[in-house]
Amino acid sequence: MNENIVKKAEAFAKEQYNKYTEEPLWDNHISLVRDFALKLAEAEHADKLVVEVAAILHDIGYSEGKEDHNITSYNLAKEFLKSINLPLDKKELILKCILNHGGKFSDIKDSIEAKIIQSADGLAIIFDDAWKKYENKYLTSDEKDELKFFLSKGISKINLKSAVNMAKNQVDKLNRIIM
Ligand SMILES: [Fe+2]
Repeated sequence: MNENIVKKAEAFAKEQYNKYTEEPLWDNHISLVRDFALKLAEAEHADKLVVEVAAILHDIGYSEGKEDHNITSYNLAKEFLKSINLPLDKKELILKCILNHGGKFSDIKDSIEAKIIQSADGLAIIFDDAWKKYENKYLTSDEKDELKFFLSKGISKINLKSAVNMAKNQVDKLNRIIM
């Protein structure tokens, strides 16, 4: 049953991500978020199905633009979940994870699943393949400022100890790149 739900979420999400042509979100960012979210769910004994479905759906709102995409993602996911056979409390938890995945909406009272999606989103930013092209390259101060912004955006979302540990070496490496 769980496998079926994940497959349906994947099919729906791919359709949405395909509408956003600026970045290949599905192949890059979403797959990273999903992998990290599942690893964190294991470490934190969280609900794996909730975390996996939330990771798959968390950025679908990009299909209607980047601005406030967490709200659009929430609304699109809410409609989609109506077609899915899942207990109401799990659906609500998935929706909360999606709505709160941006740093500015995060709250100390968030569920462990919501913190996992925030942290996995941050980890995905700092482990993004895009960083590779800046290794061994001379960086202008504008480039450094831009990269510093992305690094601190990623770090600001990593709010679980288990995630901080996963990030540590990569953060050190990126700090050396932009120093
Ligand atoms: Fe994301």
